[in-house]
Amino acid sequence: MKTIIEPFRIKTVEPIRITTREEREKLLTGAGHNVFLLDAEDVLIDLLTDSGTSAMSHHQWAAMMQGDESYAGSRSWYRFEAAVKEIFGFEHVIPTHQGRAAERLLFGITCKKGDVVPNNTHFDTTRANVEFTGAEAVDVVIPEGREPETYHPFKGNVDLEALENLIETVGADRIPMILITVTNNSGGGQPVSMENIRAVSRIARSHGIPLYMDACRFAENAYFIKLREEGYAGKTVKEIAQEIFSYADGCTMSAKKDAFANIGGFLCTNDPDLARQEKDLLILTEGYPTYGGLAGRDLEAIAVGLHEVLEEDYLRYRFASTRYLGEHISAEGVPIVQPPGGHAIYIDAKVFLPHIPPSQFPGQALACALYLEGGIRGVEIGSVMFGRKDPDTGADIPSPMELVRLAIPRRVYTQSHIDYVVEVIVEVYKRRESLRGLEITYEAPFLRHFTARFKEV
Ligand code: F0G
Repeated sequence: MKTIIEPFRIKTVEPIRITTREEREKLLTGAGHNVFLLDAEDVLIDLLTDSGTSAMSHHQWAAMMQGDESYAGSRSWYRFEAAVKEIFGFEHVIPTHQGRAAERLLFGITCKKGDVVPNNTHFDTTRANVEFTGAEAVDVVIPEGREPETYHPFKGNVDLEALENLIETVGADRIPMILITVTNNSGGGQPVSMENIRAVSRIARSHGIPLYMDACRFAENAYFIKLREEGYAGKTVKEIAQEIFSYADGCTMSAKKDAFANIGGFLCTNDPDLARQEKDLLILTEGYPTYGGLAGRDLEAIAVGLHEVLEEDYLRYRFASTRYLGEHISAEGVPIVQPPGGHAIYIDAKVFLPHIPPSQFPGQALACALYLEGGIRGVEIGSVMFGRKDPDTGADIPSPMELVRLAIPRRVYTQSHIDYVVEVIVEVYKRRESLRGLEITYEAPFLRHFTARFKEV
């Protein structure tokens, strides 16, 4: 087999700045040991997120020039709506400025105190938006989904027994919806099988509970199904995506992921009453229902991106480049969530830094070390992001996993960038015993990871 190459050539370049270790030491201290608080200019390879960081194609840029900026009923809106309907197949499409705006609309209308929302694993904004309504967000991923080193082809699957038990205990009337996140971002970018989606849909329908998909990385999930699930090898990725959504009643979507857009999102539903309420709220906080907080040119970029992301040459390259990073660091002994996910590699910081207890945030310590060593920015997905407070004692309850995510922006970095990332990680791994834990000196009441400040223990 020949090398899987980037299926594009580069037409515009953006210089990146190399800093010295001394500079990075000062910058990191100034940022309170929180890489979110660094200036992007001071980062060499930015793997903080794959969200909104994609390189757009010349087709997308050309479409942007055709953006119709009319307030109501613009041409661009109809192109956007047609692209979403063709792939997702839902009756009502509501544009939003990003994924969490869709979440806020959906949960704000359907959830209330005392309700419970199951999901394979809630992403941080999803959990926060559910909890903001007073409802409880419960993760029901299969046990393998919480074991970094265990191999399973569909580690994002919902634990069907746990879901049924939850419905039994809580009662269907207190469950406004069941969610499935494809791919399971917080659990390692792992896919959900079609069989599992079908089974969850059956359970949801038998209890009269709507099923919603958190669709951010739907194309990657569909491609995993094509590669790994029996009966799908001969189908197109688009057909697989259409089948996924055929089992659901609606979805939330961040177009900053699998639509190659720098901003945007949408909310879909088949329920006309809900759509009406969502549009009313949309007008109040986001914008008129034919633009929803987006410019006409953004709608154009998304309409084109949604089709480009389903191209198999792209997805083959996408998976190859993520896997390349995962395989090269794990060959050197670095513990990662196996198998590699679609959009990111997740380093298991608990195993990487066994001498740092969860209360001293090993993931955060590792994220800081990668920046110090090579100017690489990843993100902690562990007890800083998902740690809980005991409601009675206020004590920290650690997250089940302590991960550092290295998310790969779409179509942005080349193989030599990734070779450099491998070298930096392996260097930090060799001197891992010298890394120290952190303690929090400031934290916000929710989504604390964005703004918390730390000092070394
Ligand atoms: N759901 C999932 C699974 C996500 O990964 C994200 C965002 C959202 C919802 C919210 O979308 O950012 O457009 O408001 N994830 C980004 C990330 C931020 O880095 O993984 P948004």
